Amino acid sequence: MAGLIPDNCLEDILSRVNIVDVISAYVPLKKAGRNFKACCPFHEEKTPSFVVSADRQIYHCFGCGESGNAFKFLMRHERMEFLEAVELLAKKAGVVLPETKKQDQTAVNFVNQLYKVNELAAAFYENNLSLPPAKHAKDYLGKRGLTEESLKLFKLGFVPDKWDLLLNYLKSKNVSLSVMEKAGLIVPKDNGGYYDRYRNRIIFPILDARDRVIGFGARVLDNSLPKYINSPETPVYVKGRNLYGLNFAKDAIRELDFVVIVEGYLDVIVPFQAGLKNIVASSGTAFTSEQARLLKRYTSNVVVVYDGDAAGQIASLRSLDIFIEEEMSVKIVSLPAGFDPDSFVRKNGVDSLKEKISKAQNLFDYKLGVLKSRFNYRNIDEKAKIAQAMLESLAKIKDAVLRSEYLKKLAQDLDIKEDALFQELKKIDTGKPSVNHSAIEVRKQLNISPTEKLLIKLMLEENDLITRIKNSLHPHDFIDERSTKIVTHIFKLFDEGRSVEPNLLMSHLGHDDSTQLLCESIFLPDQLSSDEKEKVADDCVKRLKHEKSRLHRQSLEQEIKIAQNSGDEDKLQSLLQEFHGLIKKKG
Ligand code: UTP
Ligand code: MN
Repeated sequence: MAGLIPDNCLEDILSRVNIVDVISAYVPLKKAGRNFKACCPFHEEKTPSFVVSADRQIYHCFGCGESGNAFKFLMRHERMEFLEAVELLAKKAGVVLPETKKQDQTAVNFVNQLYKVNELAAAFYENNLSLPPAKHAKDYLGKRGLTEESLKLFKLGFVPDKWDLLLNYLKSKNVSLSVMEKAGLIVPKDNGGYYDRYRNRIIFPILDARDRVIGFGARVLDNSLPKYINSPETPVYVKGRNLYGLNFAKDAIRELDFVVIVEGYLDVIVPFQAGLKNIVASSGTAFTSEQARLLKRYTSNVVVVYDGDAAGQIASLRSLDIFIEEEMSVKIVSLPAGFDPDSFVRKNGVDSLKEKISKAQNLFDYKLGVLKSRFNYRNIDEKAKIAQAMLESLAKIKDAVLRSEYLKKLAQDLDIKEDALFQELKKIDTGKPSVNHSAIEVRKQLNISPTEKLLIKLMLEENDLITRIKNSLHPHDFIDERSTKIVTHIFKLFDEGRSVEPNLLMSHLGHDDSTQLLCESIFLPDQLSSDEKEKVADDCVKRLKHEKSRLHRQSLEQEIKIAQNSGDEDKLQSLLQEFHGLIKKKG
């Protein structure tokens, strides 16, 4: 699979990018000795077993076994194709890639075409905003308090009131109708032909965390309905997978270690331009666990700011439980009636919003407050309702200690016996198929002899040992076929005179367990000096040969038995001969 790009290019890229930088853009890494550690982004866990080695330029999770180099990380974490990951890192490293064979890449190509046509459309809309027919749109945006700088940064645009402006523009750029349609930019007419989806609207391009245009939101300039028209789902725009503004906010989110979530496009832009930069929008839909996990790459702390009118809606509070399930902390700010973050900042200033955010209320306290204002907790039936609604959220807390603390508090608050609440909580728990599915996801260590692992480790640590080992072992002397695969590649790279680096090796291994084996080998604990390594390598070679001949003998014995039973004399004779040869050799 790495075949499309020459090895020296991959080598070049891998030697110039630092895997620690690559991964820390998505996962908060903490220094731990020579390595970096984090909770694994590929499976659920509470104590970090995900290790990134700066020396080796690889990552490995001791919990689930997921491992690889910088390319593999992007492929797994960002769902990139191999070529995409290579392209991204090549750019970062300033390495120029040779032209690849594009026809091999139809699927990647198609997705890339969608990004490209979205990019073209965004540029078209953006340019329109600066033309004379857009004067009223510009005036409108000015009235809403947007600065020129914001218009540019957020790439805001406009499209006049015509049926085919974008259509014709994209045609002139040789974009096919089918690509335009798949990107959701044009809509088929009943009687043939197409028309532009967005007309006479302000355009908000929606970018993903990597600054690619994935879709659009388009707002009317007056009070007509619908207020917004949005992109339909496309292969690059999947609702609930993204958060508006994340690409601009991610650095600030990581720095401040919390994210502010609001509802609308303007609720992001207005506070952002006033200096509140760790802000994203849900675009008015319920939160998904994908969004929660997306945010978790940058922080575990969420502050949701509700519009004045939305506050107190229990249904919308329920959707926050997603964050609890992802073990994130959720706080809530509710604005005065009639305000959303945009209008609140324009009226009271951004510091006033920041102040409210700093005093945000924890989800459980907030929810209890809302419920208490909604129901009369002196009435027994209504009190039970409050308890039930609270327990629904509490049941989502995975940390047993935390959950029991909240339960205690709730019992005091509602003046209910803790034990009674606990009984009710248990009922909710059992109603769910799996509270903790991490157990299923955790993979065991591969069952491969430590001798093979150690040999692999030694060859990678001391490339000088490769000749020594190669002189006495063939890759097929390794018993596990994944070991054989790794060793074959080690020998090959070595013969070609390249450096035998684990991260380069990984680009050749593809996607089976062999990368996991490689990492398990590398991370074997040891403190050997160079001299000792030589001796240990010799021992391992001996042990492996011994093991190999033991297995060989075992299988011969078995075959002999079968030949005896079936009365196959010729076969029996030749097997016996082989067997005696083996014994003699061993001496
Ligand atoms: P709001 O109605 O709060 O709009 O919807 P807004 O963002 O504050 O816009 P202004 O201030 O009136 O200009 C919040 C979000 O819900 C989505 C949009 O993403 C919007 O930003 N929405 C709203 C739609 O998708 N369609 C609609 O018709 C309305
Ligand atoms: Mn608004």
